[in-house]
Amino acid sequence: MTNKFENSKLVSEIQKLKLQKNAVILAHFYQNPEIQDIADYIGDSLQLSQIAAETKADIIVFAGVHFMAETAKILSPDKKVLLPDLEAGCSLADSCKADDFAKFKAKNPNHLVISYVNTTAEIKAMTDIVCTSSNALKIVNSLPKDQKIIFGPDRNLGNYINSVTGREMLLWDGACHVHDDFSLERILELKKQHPNAKIIAHPECQKQILIVSDYIGSTADLLKFTKTDSAKTYIVATESGILHQMQKSNPTKTYIPAPPNDATCACNDCKYMKLVTLEKLYNCLLNENNEIFVDEIIQQKARKSIVKMLELSATFNL
Ligand code: 13P
Ligand code: SF4
Repeated sequence: MTNKFENSKLVSEIQKLKLQKNAVILAHFYQNPEIQDIADYIGDSLQLSQIAAETKADIIVFAGVHFMAETAKILSPDKKVLLPDLEAGCSLADSCKADDFAKFKAKNPNHLVISYVNTTAEIKAMTDIVCTSSNALKIVNSLPKDQKIIFGPDRNLGNYINSVTGREMLLWDGACHVHDDFSLERILELKKQHPNAKIIAHPECQKQILIVSDYIGSTADLLKFTKTDSAKTYIVATESGILHQMQKSNPTKTYIPAPPNDATCACNDCKYMKLVTLEKLYNCLLNENNEIFVDEIIQQKARKSIVKMLELSATFNL
């Protein structure tokens, strides 16, 4: 266990190494607060992939999970991309294996494939357009109404988009262990205790949670909403790491993490995101290990579907 003194030493060593090596640290909103605080850029999946595509740094240290670092490598193949803990995976990406997805695609020809960024490079290589929670709805809405679509791997996000657009996209049956597991009962109990609180939720949550929510949006959208909305208290149904930025941007408001079904936990953490520590970040930058590599052919195919997403996002001003 590192104490405060060791943490501040690690922080200053990381800062020095960053300058020496022309490295940049990207951190997802679900990272531990001390990791968010040392990052050059903090963002959601879309924002971080946009930064990864444009950075002039020689080394990208991705404080996030494997598919995010892999996406950065695909977008910036000439850079060294490092992931502080190679075990930082994703239950949603794991729920969609390349062989199974290839069969699903073959069974449903004439469908355009839209895949969430939370997938492996192999799935992205079988995809026409990648999306994130920030742009999924806009991307689907930009397509002709009669366009047949396969959407994967998050069934909750897919169901949400189907319900909002009236489409009948074919959905892959995957889910994220964090967003799929919020307790409606416990959220409603919190609402009773805080009747003026607004419930805000990520669209990866189950329908029953979305129905009782006052606002639904990607991680970045939820943060933006709490900055501009007039409520004083929020029950936040997404990974609890985002509360750090909410508290920093408006400390006078109260943010209550929505609880999971497990009655012994008050909030819902991503076990993969939380694997990243200052010590691991320092070691991987020092030794330049835990490098991400992507097969050349997969990289070229996956790049097309990610670039398509970035181009569309630019037209939506995202
Ligand atoms: P966003 O970053 O698009 O909000 O997605 C949430 C998520 O689960 C990332 O792993
Ligand atoms: Fe994957 Fe869910 Fe963790 Fe995001 S929060 S990295 S979707 S397991």
